[in-house]
Order: sequence, then C-alpha cells, then structure tokens
Amino acid sequence: MFKYRQKLTMYMGKRILVTGALGQIGTELVTALRNVHGYDAVIPTDVRENDDCRVLNVLDLEGIDYLVREENVSEIYHLAALLSATGEKNPELCWDINVVGLENVVEIAKKYDCRLFSPSSIAVFGPDCPKIAPQVTPLNPATIYGKTKVVGEQMAITSGIDMRGIRYPGLVSYKAPAGGGTTDYAVEIFHAALKDGHYDCFVREDTRLPMMYMDDAIRATLELMDIPMEKLGAARGGYNIAGCSFTAKELVGSIQRHLPDFTCTFTPDIRQNYADSWPDEIEDEVARLEWGWKPEFDLDKMVDTMIKGLKG
Ligand code: SER
Repeated sequence: MFKYRQKLTMYMGKRILVTGALGQIGTELVTALRNVHGYDAVIPTDVRENDDCRVLNVLDLEGIDYLVREENVSEIYHLAALLSATGEKNPELCWDINVVGLENVVEIAKKYDCRLFSPSSIAVFGPDCPKIAPQVTPLNPATIYGKTKVVGEQMAITSGIDMRGIRYPGLVSYKAPAGGGTTDYAVEIFHAALKDGHYDCFVREDTRLPMMYMDDAIRATLELMDIPMEKLGAARGGYNIAGCSFTAKELVGSIQRHLPDFTCTFTPDIRQNYADSWPDEIEDEVARLEWGWKPEFDLDKMVDTMIKGLKG
C-alpha cells in the first residue's frame, strides 16, 4: 500500500492535512502552505465548524483515519492543542487533546506513511532552566501544557516516523486572535492600544520572554519541513529558535513610538507564575547549524508590522 501511496503522491503532489487550522498559527500556515503547494493540496481541519475547513476532532481516531485515507494525505501539520493558561484550568482536557490527540495522529501517520510536524514550545523549560535556554537541558516544566509538549518531543524520537517540531516562542500576529496562552499579552496589547489607548497587562513590566513575529514562525516551519531527514539530529522533536526577547515594558515603549499617548498598567495574575517558570531567551545554535534558521523580525520591526496590519 505504501508504494502505491508514494506513487500517488508523486503523481498528485503533496496532500497536506492541517489540524487546528482555525487557530493563531493555523490561519497563517494554511495560507503559506497553499502558496507553496497549491490551494487544493491543503486540507484544513478544526474542531470548530467553519466554511473554510473540515470538522475534525483529534480525539476521533477513526475520523483522522478516514480523512487521511480518503484524501491520500502525505503530510500532517498537527496544530490542535490547548495552551498554557487554558491547560492549567483544564489539566485533563489538556492532556487528552495534547497527548492523546497527538498519539492518534502519530498512529495514523505511521499507518499511512505520512510526514508529521508537531509544534513544541518554550513551555518545555522549567524554573531550573538557565535564563538563556540551551537546546539540551533538563526539561522540568511547571505547567501541564509544558509536560504535554515534552511528551510530544519524545514521541518524535521514538515514533519511528519522519516527525519534527519547533519550540515556538510566544507568537505575535494580527490575522487571527491568540487564545489561552500566557504570551497572549503581547498580542492583546496591540488591540487595546489601538482601540482604547490603554492596556492592563497581566504580567509584570519586567517580565522578559522569548517572542517571535508570526512570519518568522511560519517561515521556520516551512524551512524545517524542507530539510532532508538525515540532516536533522536528536533535537528534531523540538528545535529552539530565537526571534526577539523583550520585557513587557520594552514592548510598551516600542508601541509608544507609534502611539505616544498609549498607557499601560500591570496587574499580574496566575499567568505571571507560568511566565516566571520560562526562560528569558533562547539559544538556537543547533537550528542555525542543522537547517539554517535565522530570524528576520526584531522588536521594533514586529511592532511596526503589527500596527500597520491592524490599522489595515
Ligand atoms: N505561547 C504559549 C503560551 O503562552 C507558549 O508556547 O501558552
């Protein structure tokens, strides 16, 4: 069957399934994949109903099997997940979606010989990690979300399939809302600045976290998936990639270059604890060496692009 499927892929081109396609990453990744492989090559799915994608619950093993078989899928971008803040509120659901959902996708990817991209996160690091996080360091995350991402990285190595991932920093974008994450303040702040001229930030002003503008994250994803498997080493389950790190106060300062009257107050909530358990910065030498990773957006360029994009 595999030979037949491989021949079909050569004839038809790639068939790409995206789970969680309506999320912050999925919204932009689907467009990027379609630009490269053609509109019909990409099958967006999400648990939410929407005219632009098929309904798929990643806990429904048979549903995944059916879609992958019927659509001759050869590559899967598995983005369906709960993030840190939502995950801590619903730990069992977080485990189910992030771990059981991934196990299902891995099982089907194995069965039909699909390549698989599965995102990891800076949340794999815990309080014992150096403030500048190396690629290889003990992973003792403080959040259930982080734990599920560690399991996912390990699966990439043990699954026996071509499975890869990136430890995404906090992602900043304007095309789709962020949802349920700790780093969401770095997205919400733009909407509030433009709409109300004020934002009440849920982390302290000195909170520094690794962040990245979405264009860099999408490019990294496509670049990683383009590299032959033999060039990738033991980090392939979750590569560190750095974009730009900044404090919440520095973010406010950069926004004020455009909106001098913008004000921000800081009222830390439970998400401060999650942020405090993560590193300030990321060391990304391994990704640079193995597949040529290089970021393009610094803080000011990201802010300029966000403000321009949101103003329309
Ligand atoms: N952005 C995620 C979160 O805040 C971390 O990967 O939960």
